Amino acid sequence: MAKITYIENGGREHAVEVKTGLTVMEGAIRNNVPGIDADCGGACACATCHVYVEATGKPSAMEESMLDFAEEVEPNSRLSCQIRVSDALDGLIVRLPENQH
Ligand code: FES
Repeated sequence: MAKITYIENGGREHAVEVKTGLTVMEGAIRNNVPGIDADCGGACACATCHVYVEATGKPSAMEESMLDFAEEVEPNSRLSCQIRVSDALDGLIVRLPENQH
C-alpha cells in the first residue's frame, strides 16, 4: 500500500491508499479521482492519464513519445498508467494538468 495524493488543477486534494502492483492511473480510477480518463485502459496509447510527479524515475521511450500528444508537458510529466505503485512510492504527490478535470 502507498498513500498517494492526487491534486486537481483547482487545488482539490484526494489522498488515498493504493495497493502495491496497481498503477498510479488505476489508483485514481478506483478512487473516483476526476481528471484521469485513461481512455486506452493503461496501454500507453492515449495520454489522458497525464500527471506531474516528483521523482518516480524516467519515462520509457514509448511513454515519452506518447507524452508528445499530451498538452502542457513539463519536465516532471508522466503518464500515470506507466507508474507501478510500490511501498517506495508511499507519500507520492501527483498534480493534474489544467486541461484535465
Ligand atoms: Fe492511456 Fe495512460 S491510460 S496512456
